[in-house]
Amino acid sequence: MGVGSERAAVLKGQYPESYACVARYAVPLKFANIGAPQLIAQKPGDTVVGPEEVRAAMDLIGAQVLAIHLNFLQEMVQPEGDRRAKGCLGQIAELAHKFPVLAKETGAGISRAVAEALRERGVKAFDVSGTGGTSFAAVEHYRALDQGAEREARVGRTFWDWGIPAPVSVLELAPLGLPVVASGGVRSGLDVARALALGATAAGTAGGVLRAASTGFEETKAELETLVHELRVAMFLTGSKNADELRKAPYVVTGETAPWLRR
Ligand SMILES: Cc1cc2nc3c(=O)[nH]c(=O)nc-3n(C[C@H](O)[C@H](O)[C@H](O)COP(=O)(O)O)c2cc1C
Repeated sequence: MGVGSERAAVLKGQYPESYACVARYAVPLKFANIGAPQLIAQKPGDTVVGPEEVRAAMDLIGAQVLAIHLNFLQEMVQPEGDRRAKGCLGQIAELAHKFPVLAKETGAGISRAVAEALRERGVKAFDVSGTGGTSFAAVEHYRALDQGAEREARVGRTFWDWGIPAPVSVLELAPLGLPVVASGGVRSGLDVARALALGATAAGTAGGVLRAASTGFEETKAELETLVHELRVAMFLTGSKNADELRKAPYVVTGETAPWLRR
């Protein structure tokens, strides 16, 4: 389980309980979360997230891993977005030498080149968060419209689907030999099976459980149990006894993803 950005808690002391509740449950692997734009000063005098704040973010939920999200598309569409990126790689390297760091996108995918640059700086795992699911360009488009920010609203519409499809990003990153979480449009156990067959270590979903989570506990439990059941069905139908066997299952890439692979 990964929580959302802990910026509010560690930089402003806001909503600590909304994160800390996770610490009360025996979740086997927890990811603290901080945005790359918060690792550098966006304007003179800004407080940035450094090792002390990261330690606090991890302790708040009892995390074993720090997820650093790369959400620059979102920041470009937000009227109040943090648009400086210079220096982020160096800060990621500093943190990656002190904490186990997973780098993630938030809906636009990670390329092999970016993953290699991050691996060189000590990043230990990736969560691709490719296109095909939640679009933060879209989310921010509507927020910008509400705020009357016409230029940002238009940028959100223009870059609505910008990025690398989740399956392509998984295929690009799997050969690097580091753990890869497939995410971005994972909506069923069959999607999880597809992700594992393509070489992902695990799969993740955010928007897929959001509706159920907004309704209630029982609905969320049912959604996750159904997802696991669907994964079992896919494993049964492909004769895969375990996740490793599923990873060796043959697959065919069709539809919009196929042209990416011929590139
Ligand atoms: C409501 C919502 C809030 C999110 N907030 C964060 C966040 O704070 N930090 C982060 O790394 N990703 C955040 N994400 C992005 C997800 O982790 C995920 O990468 C993205 O939504 C793509 O997956 P999906 O198609 O299953 O939603 C958020 C997603 C949603 C739907």
